[in-house]
Amino acid sequence: MFRQPRYSERIIFEYNDIKTDHDYWANEEEVKKVFELLPEEAIRKNEPKIPNLPESVVVRHFTRLSRMNYAIDIGPYPLGSCTMKYNFKIMERLANLKELAYLHEELPEENIQGLLSLLYTFERFLCEITGMDKFSFQPAAGAHAEFAGVLIIRKYHEINNELDYRKEIIVPDSSHGTNPASASMAGFKVITVRSNKEGTVDIEELKSLLSKRTAGLMLTNPNTLGLFEKDILEIAKMVHEVGGLLYYDGANLNGIMTYVRPGDMGFDIVHLNLHKTFGTPHGGGGPGAGPLGVKEFLKEFLPVPVIEFDGKKYYLNYNLPKTIGRIKENFGNTLVLIKALAYILLKGYEGLKEAREKAVANTKYFIELMKDVSEISLTHDKNIMRFHECLLSAKTLKDKTGVDAKDVAKRLLDYGLHPSMIYFPLIVDEALLVEFTEDETKENIELFANALKQIIKESYENPQLVKNAPYNATIERLDEVKASHPRTMALSWKILKTKINELIKIS
Ligand SMILES: Cc1ncc(COP(=O)(O)O)c(C=O)c1O
Repeated sequence: MFRQPRYSERIIFEYNDIKTDHDYWANEEEVKKVFELLPEEAIRKNEPKIPNLPESVVVRHFTRLSRMNYAIDIGPYPLGSCTMKYNFKIMERLANLKELAYLHEELPEENIQGLLSLLYTFERFLCEITGMDKFSFQPAAGAHAEFAGVLIIRKYHEINNELDYRKEIIVPDSSHGTNPASASMAGFKVITVRSNKEGTVDIEELKSLLSKRTAGLMLTNPNTLGLFEKDILEIAKMVHEVGGLLYYDGANLNGIMTYVRPGDMGFDIVHLNLHKTFGTPHGGGGPGAGPLGVKEFLKEFLPVPVIEFDGKKYYLNYNLPKTIGRIKENFGNTLVLIKALAYILLKGYEGLKEAREKAVANTKYFIELMKDVSEISLTHDKNIMRFHECLLSAKTLKDKTGVDAKDVAKRLLDYGLHPSMIYFPLIVDEALLVEFTEDETKENIELFANALKQIIKESYENPQLVKNAPYNATIERLDEVKASHPRTMALSWKILKTKINELIKIS
């Protein structure tokens, strides 16, 4: 049985200073030399407000915190949609080579030719994999890339003098929340197209929504139900015919890479979530990266600079007249890109193909294991093939026992499993989205399916047991309202302190 460690761990700022004269390893002369090199304005006037602690205290503090965490290195992570592949250690080692890790991106071009050649190679690979013509590496995550991509759509229509009336971005009702959010942040009105009973875009409804007001359509394929949008060529034609652009949310590329390319499906702009496809850290635990690719006719809209090669040397090209501007450092989170490049080089074409095939086979095996379970069952047409992930619904379980998808997810923690995504996509009741990627073993997929079956049994025998879970995790069930209400939610220790004071005043 899984048990996560629990410590009554203080926040590091709550530690009092502990004198550390003999725990200070830096050579004072060396430190002075560094100070001499720094410009006056870069030197702090006041000491940072952090406690003065010996190394042993700091290391133990962070090690205890890490043991209270669940990680991809501990067990399965079948999150669905935003899942992260296992990160191979060799990729970390390569990215940590001092020749790469110590480089500053503002070094003169001639001093970073090696780095530029790696990134340029990576870009060529991504173009080959996606069918796009040019990439920017600046976006730090999928959502960041989406926002930049929608800004490109905006600028494109602006330059064509059509922005006055192209004010709508269409997204399917199964789309990831970041799609409508990015479109809205870029100033567009978000129009939702409903899914048909198979779970894919309803073409007839899409037809009725397309007009000269359409700036673009954002789509992921396979979609967030793991279903391939088989009408994609027709969809692309329809969007282009009314003058709109097609944006590919590449979060789900793992399901199709080496099989079919977004560029060939008619997409004009794509982003890739490297964590889901090439095994890098995800943004939140990151840093992450979300490369943004475009077709030839949109090259000049990319953030500057982009990397070019003149046949002899690599250089940074700032001369993109229609650029949306800079959105991050030159190459974003560079070392994440290096890790993804390492993944591609380690796997090769055959390895990438195998990764896709195994990811799809894993989904298929899981569906097979769950096929006779009615309480948590596959949604939509059961005969249509799922790709990288599959969507289940716990509605029958809820109707029969009162245990809902959230309770199931919490109880999975007691089994030492990262829960699947719940209540997304929004189009089915009591949704549970499951994605294993290629890394999960047969044994772990069985473990997950058996845990779900066991939880269903518990729900009939003792629903309260499931409704109060988890018991074996570091923290028990949180008060959902307090954890998400703007008055009580605290995203940092400082905010928490202010909020506690405010609440004391109110009460
Ligand atoms: C379908 C889809 N689109 C967009 C995103 C947003 O990506 P990120 O979390 O990298 O911002 C995700 C999450 O990974 C996703 O699953």
